[in-house]
Amino acid sequence: MKDENLKVLVVGSGGREHTIAKECAKSPLVNQVLVTPGNGGISREFKSFTLGVEDNAGIVNLAQDQNVDLVVVGPEIPLCNGLVDDLQKVGILAYGPDEKGAKLEGSKAYTKDFLSKYNIPTASYGNFSDLSNALDYLETCQLPVVVKASGLAAGKGVLICESMEEAKTAVGEMLSGDSFGDSGKEVVIEEFLSGEETSLHLICSGESYLALPMSQDHKKVGEGDTGLNTGGMGAYAPTSLVTPVMLRQYEEKIVKPTLAGLRSEGVNFRGTLYIGLMLTTNGPKVLEFNVRFGDPETQVILPLLEDDLVILLLKSARGEKMPDSITFKNESAMVVVLASKGYPESYPKGEPVTEPKNPVDGSFLIHAGTKEQQGQIVTSGGRVLGAVGVGKNLEEAKQKAYKLVKEVNFESKYYRADIGHREFSRS
Ligand code: AMP
Ligand code: GLY
Repeated sequence: MKDENLKVLVVGSGGREHTIAKECAKSPLVNQVLVTPGNGGISREFKSFTLGVEDNAGIVNLAQDQNVDLVVVGPEIPLCNGLVDDLQKVGILAYGPDEKGAKLEGSKAYTKDFLSKYNIPTASYGNFSDLSNALDYLETCQLPVVVKASGLAAGKGVLICESMEEAKTAVGEMLSGDSFGDSGKEVVIEEFLSGEETSLHLICSGESYLALPMSQDHKKVGEGDTGLNTGGMGAYAPTSLVTPVMLRQYEEKIVKPTLAGLRSEGVNFRGTLYIGLMLTTNGPKVLEFNVRFGDPETQVILPLLEDDLVILLLKSARGEKMPDSITFKNESAMVVVLASKGYPESYPKGEPVTEPKNPVDGSFLIHAGTKEQQGQIVTSGGRVLGAVGVGKNLEEAKQKAYKLVKEVNFESKYYRADIGHREFSRS
């Protein structure tokens, strides 16, 4: 059957899902994009529903009722909860890994054992569920040492401990369930790696994959990469940190062994594989895998795509061979996250947002933590909006993104003024 007049349902409510919905809507194959649960900006553009991302049965019913042709699952929680498996059971095509594949993000302990089994470079580590074994292992580690809750913790379950006291407390609080509930009942204790971080996004269809442009996120809340870790305060792509020759080396050393390893484990990985890398003096090492597009990295990667995203998502979901190559615009993109002051800890909500009517060409606003209240967009989350600029080079993308940042207002608006600083200091 020919792919035409498609109905696509995007599951999620963040900036990533707003971007995915916009890119899907550009495809000539698509007739309508639906979103659940969406956010204030998404619901102005796309028909939205109220089902939350953890309601597998509700989402399956919705996809059936609406005759959806393709469901694109944005966040990790429904992937780890087997939403793709549940959709597949009733014959609905879904983009993203099944529950088995999603374990690469859902269990850091499983991932570390996987990396070690297939000789894929990563930090040395130990996995523990027992406190006294964990404390004994800690005694053998050098400082700083990294303590991670094995399960999902919304990016907050990683602590870089400068003292043994701090590390012991972190391990104790995790294993007791006090700090991260069940997600902390197994911990990974890991060697600290230094270097620059970058992320590689792949669209996989089991046997084959396509690499998207390399991007760099800014995880710390403060300028100069200081303060607490966040979901990401801004990103840009592509980065000159990784040359095409380096990318080919990463494919040989990391990507191909990972996909081959997954196959040996009986995992037919479809969907996005996000490889978080630390570029150390001893070569690239895997920090983490995510099994979905990064947020905010998606906001800068997808706008650079020349090809039709929906064709790629369909091929991946069907397990068909991915195209041999993919075309990207010869441009750069930057997103600056507009957060509520206080994020990632506590922050106000419900503040009215004012947006510019006509942003300059090549710039646009992506909604994340917003909702519509009596016809007015108000803040409803820590990361509120993303100001995206696309230009012929990163400098132009930056000018456009920051111009837009200045044109948006809400009382507790907070953003980093130095997104892209590492790239600018390289050139
Ligand atoms: P993860 O969720 O495992 O990627 O960890 C979140 C963030 O913590 C990473 O993006 C890094 O900035 C930092 N991190 C994680 N593991 C290490 C490590 N072994 N050495 C240094 N930094 C790390
Ligand atoms: N920005 C990091 C992530 O999506 O995990």
